[in-house]
Amino acid sequence: LKIVLVGASGTIGKAIVKELGARHEIVAAGSRTGDVRLDITDPVSIRTAYRQIGRFDAVVCAAGRVHFAPLASMTADYYAVGLKDKLMGQVNLVLLGLESINDGGSFTLTSGVLTDDPIVSGSSASMVNGAIEAWVGAAAIELPRGIRINVVSPGVLVESMDKYASFFRGHEPVPASRAALAYSKSVEGAQTGKVYRVL
Ligand SMILES: NC(=O)c1ccc[n+]([C@@H]2O[C@H](COP(=O)([O-])OP(=O)(O)OC[C@H]3O[C@@H](n4cnc5c(N)ncnc54)[C@H](OP(=O)(O)O)[C@@H]3O)[C@@H](O)[C@H]2O)c1
Repeated sequence: LKIVLVGASGTIGKAIVKELGARHEIVAAGSRTGDVRLDITDPVSIRTAYRQIGRFDAVVCAAGRVHFAPLASMTADYYAVGLKDKLMGQVNLVLLGLESINDGGSFTLTSGVLTDDPIVSGSSASMVNGAIEAWVGAAAIELPRGIRINVVSPGVLVESMDKYASFFRGHEPVPASRAALAYSKSVEGAQTGKVYRVL
């Protein structure tokens, strides 16, 4: 399969490359790294990148930013970061990718454990992750040509604990290699409309 992997250079992305790269052609994409450059917050750049890539069988997104801060200091502008980046960035990858994805292809997006296991300072992540998961379920029943869509919701990663440990006390971290298996199931399996929780 020809798989467009947005965020291939990241912590999750690198593990996905390891898992899927041996069996498939990976087109690595990122805003500053990769074979193809695209910024998920900029629909024009997504369109341009898809034109460069041509037809493909799958899009996997392991990118998306949100603003972490205590609730009392959150503002509409801070929430807008996550809405524009992690939420609409991933939605736009799907909407704009429909033109170039082959029949029977798949989209795999990323949410995260904070959907239903919130932490202090994570309200934007919880908001956006929940929205992504609801949207994927809805999109799945309308996608044409046998195209599938799923979302992977990883727990905090072992590899990210240096950065995030103080926010995620009591969470059991997940190795990125285990999260990568859920992306494999989504791309190489046959299910659609699923949320794969890797905890
Ligand atoms: N790490 C965790 O513990 C964890 C757990 C659950 C869920 N998640 C979610 O998983 C996703 C990836 O997390 P991560 O920790 O692997 O991130 P990361 O290590 O910071 O990597 C982010 C990746 O996304 C790319 N990227 C960043 N901004 C982009 C943009 N605007 N357009 C296109 N590509 C962009 C980066 O490449 P460039 O620098 O080239 O843009 C990089 O390859 C995030 O949505 C995160 O919320 C992470």
